[in-house]
Amino acid sequence: MSVLLNDIRMNKKSTGFVPTMGALHQGHISLTECSKLQNDITIVSIFVNPTQFNNQEDLQNYPRSLTADIEMLQRSNCDIVFTPEIDEMYPENDRRIFDFKGLDKVMEGKYRKGHFNGVAQIVSVLFEIIQPTNAYFGKKDFQQVAIIKFLNKNYLNDLNINIISCDIIRESDGLAMSSRNQLLTVEYRIAAKLISETLFKFQKNYNNFTVSRLKKNIEDEINANPLLEVEYIDIVDNDTLQSVDYIETGRTTACIAVFAGKIRLIDNISF
Ligand code: PAJ
Repeated sequence: MSVLLNDIRMNKKSTGFVPTMGALHQGHISLTECSKLQNDITIVSIFVNPTQFNNQEDLQNYPRSLTADIEMLQRSNCDIVFTPEIDEMYPENDRRIFDFKGLDKVMEGKYRKGHFNGVAQIVSVLFEIIQPTNAYFGKKDFQQVAIIKFLNKNYLNDLNINIISCDIIRESDGLAMSSRNQLLTVEYRIAAKLISETLFKFQKNYNNFTVSRLKKNIEDEINANPLLEVEYIDIVDNDTLQSVDYIETGRTTACIAVFAGKIRLIDNISF
């Protein structure tokens, strides 16, 4: 990878990098398409990173489909696919602890302890190896984008990488695309559309409610389906990720995590 990239850099070509954990879908491909428009060379990594899973069962059950992934990337004319092994990424235990100044203490960070530290470990290793001009992340993982921007600015500034965030890609019924969707049985898959449906409904008429009422209504409407259970719903400032009391258009996002049986789904909408 390093040899290949040296050559590319010597030829002054710009590089776009899309880190993934595989089981690719159109959400991932939208990132590669964005990268292709903005760079000479597009690199995708596929690596199911053990250090970001706080639950061993979740790690074991994470969908893996390397052959289909590579075919999909070939069809979308991606230039390089990087699929390292665990020992290559972690020749020894990674003991680094990152300080995100509280960005990791809320929402996903609160319910998935250590998750963002693991994300930062792998993304920093990948960034050091690839040193792209631009790196692409989806707003589907709203908090992850904030964490990566912080990591890039405060820990990896010397690498001079631009972080670019791209819109959420959804299924035709509104469910945010996710590798985990394929783990849903038909019944849960049908139920899961209620998550985005409810978010969109309240996005339209949020002015009629206080923030606490809004959160309660969203939670109650989703929980009314016996197949779904809200883990958290928070309405936060886009930069600090702290809960807000008032919604400011263009500055506020509602983030949600919902269990559809054992499968945990996340989504968000911006106001
Ligand atoms: P993964 O879940 O595979 O997602 C890879 C990238 O695709 C992330 O930036 C994610 O936000 C984006 N993505 C996923 N679903 C999307 C959708 N429906 N619309 C738009 N973008 C979407 O996120 C990770 O992997 C890992 O944490 C990683 C950054 C690779 C570190 O291991």
